[in-house]
Amino acid sequence: MFGKKTDKMKRTQFLHTVTGGIAAACVSCLAAACSSSEAPTPASPPGQVPISNAFTVNLNSELRGINEFISKNGIILIRLATGDVPSSFLAVSSVCPHAGATVDYLSTKSSFVCLAHGSTFSSDGSLLTGPAAQGLTKLVVQIVGTTLTVK
Ligand code: FES
Repeated sequence: MFGKKTDKMKRTQFLHTVTGGIAAACVSCLAAACSSSEAPTPASPPGQVPISNAFTVNLNSELRGINEFISKNGIILIRLATGDVPSSFLAVSSVCPHAGATVDYLSTKSSFVCLAHGSTFSSDGSLLTGPAAQGLTKLVVQIVGTTLTVK
């Protein structure tokens, strides 16, 4: 009888040891997951659009009129002038530099607004009012023939 009780205590001690070890292992895993050396790398450098977001436009059928725009893949592309040359277009990231909300283009006012906290941006994407601390990220427009590509 005494020996049986001792066996039960040993099992209890064993269970405490095992569960304590598992808990310690979980804490170690969580600490490793939160360490700065394991921080995720951004998909692309700041100010650059990931290749998957780049898109093309057929200038024979799209963006024919001044102030027409396309908002797509986190990019706002606007025709500013006639002529199918890069300087006739503005492409900016629609990601607000304040906290990452999506910025809208107000074609009637030729300006941008972020409704999340009220930042406004001029027709060229420069900052007008905060809380954002900088303007919208401008992107590269290339035109080959009648195909416009935002990069
Ligand atoms: S996220 Fe745009 S103003 Fe805050």
